[in-house]
Amino acid sequence: MISTKVPQEEIQAQYECAQKLSALRTNKKYHIVTMGCQMNVRDSETMSGWLDLCGFKKTDSREDADIVIYNTCCVRENAENKALGNVIWLKELKRFKQDMIIGVCGCMMQEEGVAESLKARYPFINLVFGTHNAYKLPEYMLRVIYDHERVFEVWNSDGSVPEGMPTTRNNSISSFVNIMYGCNNFCTYCIVPYVRGRERSRDMEDVLKECTALKDAGVNEVTLLGQNVNSYMGGGSAFAELLKRVDEIGIERVRFMTSHPKDITDELINCFGSLKHLMPALHLPVQAGDDEVLRRMNRHYSREKYLDTVKKLRDVCPEIGLTTDIIVGFPGETREQFEKTLSLVDEVKYDAAYTFIYSPRKGTLAASYEDPVSMEEKTKWIEELIVLQQMHTNAALAAQVGKTQKVLVEAVSTRSDKTVGGKTPRGHMVNFEGDSALIGKIVSVEITGTGKNTLRGTLIREQA
Ligand code: SAH
Ligand code: SF4
Ligand code: F3S
Repeated sequence: MISTKVPQEEIQAQYECAQKLSALRTNKKYHIVTMGCQMNVRDSETMSGWLDLCGFKKTDSREDADIVIYNTCCVRENAENKALGNVIWLKELKRFKQDMIIGVCGCMMQEEGVAESLKARYPFINLVFGTHNAYKLPEYMLRVIYDHERVFEVWNSDGSVPEGMPTTRNNSISSFVNIMYGCNNFCTYCIVPYVRGRERSRDMEDVLKECTALKDAGVNEVTLLGQNVNSYMGGGSAFAELLKRVDEIGIERVRFMTSHPKDITDELINCFGSLKHLMPALHLPVQAGDDEVLRRMNRHYSREKYLDTVKKLRDVCPEIGLTTDIIVGFPGETREQFEKTLSLVDEVKYDAAYTFIYSPRKGTLAASYEDPVSMEEKTKWIEELIVLQQMHTNAALAAQVGKTQKVLVEAVSTRSDKTVGGKTPRGHMVNFEGDSALIGKIVSVEITGTGKNTLRGTLIREQA
């Protein structure tokens, strides 16, 4: 089930718009603010690719920019409030710089009524577009700059897959590669299927071509991205096959996210034992530890099935590091049910867990469920969960002390230019003494101690 591609002529038309803008030599500087998940990070890289082709220069400062674009997230209410707060703040900045161009895009724009309301309420916004039509950015920029239009265009269609777009990656060491877009799962709390549309898979050859190009460019790590990578091309064994073929390309490190526990196949589990470059790390969002809550979340797996998957993974790959997402205070969740989440966290012993208080999202099924537990109570619960998880995080970190690990060095520390940081295969962050010449290399580091969520180490060898 490969999805149809956006016709190449349409993409070509964008290149032409970019060329026209570039010929105008506007000297404009742009700044993109990215909120939300890796999907948005990757989309921002494509937007950056287009804006570079338009002849604009990237700047790290909003104040310095002539074009500011907000790539928004709406998965929880606080993400949405943050996005709105930021955009409104720009109004002040625009007072001093009247020809500043303000664009807002991303998931929040796909919510019903949001684009219309921004258009009516905030005349200082020049451009709004959604997740399905982001590939038309050069055309929109041309209309804003050349025709002085206000452009508000959000497509509801699930769209097809655009290929052949330029991209300016944020990170030349570790790169994200989309393998699919959208989601069909409709977990009852989640807005993503509404704002990202139905599941669409990229052609395997296009994914492989992108990965090969990244390897040729010296990238040492790729992360294959999708809301549920296991249903790549409609599910079955397609994802495991893709992984095997990506592994053969020979990029040092391969990771993927996110996996839905309901359709992890044995074939995929076995990849952790057999593929040379697949890292021993898996993000496997559990959301809750109680079967009734899982059922009402529409997750399609039981606690037992999840724990069985964890066991199989550890049998195949004892070193595997597991991380998860957990929602606390799903509507109707009782204290007793929440305690099942606590006991599951105790059983699995995750390396890390991302924990969220349930946030009602308009249009989702769970938003209509009765939700009798107070926010105060839910806050107590999540604090309890965080303390418990921190204990397991500490234990996982402490177990690394004394081992020698291969670390892919990613950056110089923000605290000291004599310290660099990078990740172990399992995904733990390690800081150690070293200089910027190590960035991009995989080196051997002896783990000597732990920080709150990181490791400390000593460089042993510059070759892993
Ligand atoms: N596709 C991914 C993640 C999507 S959103 C997956 O299925 O795992 C990332 C996380 O945000 C989810 O795993 C969930 O834990 C959390 N989340 C989503 N909707 C939420 C809501 N309404 N309230 C609180 N947390 C939510
Ligand atoms: Fe949301 Fe569920 Fe889809 Fe993940 S799988 S994006 S949580 S609906
Ligand atoms: Fe947010 Fe959209 Fe990702 S809603 S979590 S940025 S898919």
